[in-house]
Amino acid sequence: MMEMTKKTLSGLRYEDFRSECEGCPTGLYVLRNESGMEVCLTNLGGIVLSVMVPDRDGNMDNVVLGADSLEKAGTLARDWYIGALIGPVAGRILDGKFRVDGKDFALPLNSVPNTLHSGDAGLHTVIWDAEQTADNSVCLRYRYKDGEAGFPGNMDISVTFTVTEDNALRIDYHATTDSPTLFCPTHHGYFNLDGIKKPMSSIENHQIEIDSDFYLPTDINTNHTGEILKVEGTPFDFREMRTIGERIGDNHIQLQYGKGYDHVFVLRKHEPKELTHAARLRSRHSGRVMDVFTTEIGMVMYTGNYLDGVEGIDDAVYTRRCALCLETQCFPDTPNNLHFPSVELLPGNEYSQTCIYKFSTEP
Ligand code: BGC
Repeated sequence: MMEMTKKTLSGLRYEDFRSECEGCPTGLYVLRNESGMEVCLTNLGGIVLSVMVPDRDGNMDNVVLGADSLEKAGTLARDWYIGALIGPVAGRILDGKFRVDGKDFALPLNSVPNTLHSGDAGLHTVIWDAEQTADNSVCLRYRYKDGEAGFPGNMDISVTFTVTEDNALRIDYHATTDSPTLFCPTHHGYFNLDGIKKPMSSIENHQIEIDSDFYLPTDINTNHTGEILKVEGTPFDFREMRTIGERIGDNHIQLQYGKGYDHVFVLRKHEPKELTHAARLRSRHSGRVMDVFTTEIGMVMYTGNYLDGVEGIDDAVYTRRCALCLETQCFPDTPNNLHFPSVELLPGNEYSQTCIYKFSTEP
């Protein structure tokens, strides 16, 4: 009952997320650190609803696309994956077909001719068990039964969200399985460092630096061709800080196929699963900066090319390119590109991944 009267900095209300679906309770989970950063999320889809961080003058704004009710959060996650956890396998699988342990599997196609983000029973749609272990941390757990989302194996998955004292949102993933399967999750937050408000600004004005020398090109259906190309001399070269909008409209076939940036950047690693810096996003307008760190070899930069004016939080309208995703993960469509690193998860092995979105400001 205490919760009912407590207020969140973002303005989200506990009662708008309290419900029950097939015996599983849902709720709003609020994480805070000592300096006042606040993250709200719900255990439906593990959806991050708001991330409140200061601008250069100390004003707090929400910097992620979110939703102000459970119903809306569910709809935005189903249609646009807004703020949600993605899995078991992020990205597209050509024809939804894959082979594990000598057996063939076929997933329903939700983005013909592909299965995108594991389809309609992906992690973005499930109700997770949630345990808030501290003011700044919540652990979500979910067990996929063998075949539940079309993937083999009973998979025990946990994802812990933590707001750290240095103003970061840290996401730790773990998973085990009892028979060979595929596992390659990500988080699908859409960021705009100038804040989610009416009217939304465009992330074409943001600047980004990505620690990547190569990217993965796609075909017209945004399936990976299997090639790994140099960024040098292309609009994909973000080795130095560049404005996102500067080359997004260039006459480059990959930008046409993606309707903008919607590509995997290959990150530099000395060792597999090394936690390294992946990207720095900044807005000169608000002075906010976001550094991304990951244990994964890939990061999708998706510039919100398909958002088309859906209504969100605080009367904001989520229009094309009003926010961007930086999704850390292994390469997508590994079953159809056998030279890519494997995302097979075997019994007896434990999967782990860490992703950190760290916020700061510049003068
Ligand atoms: C994909 C886009 C897709 C979007 C859905 C992104 O992760 O790369 O191609 O349209 O998710 O919102």
